[in-house]
Amino acid sequence: VRVGFFQFQPAFHDRPANLARIEQALGQVEADLIVLPEMCTTGYLFGSRAELAQAAEPVPDGPTCRFFAGLAARTKMTIVWGMPELSLDRVFNDAVMARPDGSVNCFRKAHLFLDEQDFFARGDMPFPVFDHSPSVKLGMLVCFDHYFPEAARSLALAGAQIICHPSNLVLAVAQRTTVVRALENRVFWVLANRTGVEELGRKRLAFTGRSQIVAPDGTVLARADSAREQLTVVEIDPTQALDKRATARNDLLADRRTELYRLGPCA
Ligand code: ACM
Repeated sequence: VRVGFFQFQPAFHDRPANLARIEQALGQVEADLIVLPEMCTTGYLFGSRAELAQAAEPVPDGPTCRFFAGLAARTKMTIVWGMPELSLDRVFNDAVMARPDGSVNCFRKAHLFLDEQDFFARGDMPFPVFDHSPSVKLGMLVCFDHYFPEAARSLALAGAQIICHPSNLVLAVAQRTTVVRALENRVFWVLANRTGVEELGRKRLAFTGRSQIVAPDGTVLARADSAREQLTVVEIDPTQALDKRATARNDLLADRRTELYRLGPCA
């Protein structure tokens, strides 16, 4: 299975330009699965909830989802991208997946980062897993979700072999945490980050690039640099993610001691 990321700098609040850029880039590559950054159709740094809501769309029934469903069908790729979802009066920060058969599914970011908490609703989906093919299962997380090991673990327990991770990273930790998440769950990980800077008043966000693809043993199979646009594809064998053994006698899922683990502080 050929999996990749497209790292680029989305234009702020210019959906037609971003979709054209994505279509042009994906037209140049042969792949089975491509992951794009978080909020890559709209840009990230909105000034108000109202402005964000204006840029948001229903999922899966909005025009952006229809665009990607068509692109997935034409290119025969599964495409995962980030966008704001409008649902009644709430806006979620989504990762959305379009498959070549035209189906569209989403995951709503569970862990909101910094000022996202002012504008977005917290995701309400218990880490769903989707079929890429009958034998390959995919999970999605959005950016800051990487910091919570339970998120990736939930996907791994549900059978995800590849975690697709649209991001708008401003810190430089996810390149480390996602190696550990891949390793501790024995899954492949495709981190698609963006580049460039967005400014709004006194706020300035510099996005850190360095998108990467990690194997279940923690090997970094590909990594982009911090500033350049880059589309990278590597060939992987997703059956490797079915083997959860860390040693001949240790299975990282089966050996868990769930009877000892806590969900919160001691009473
Ligand atoms: C982030 O969650 N966009 C850092």
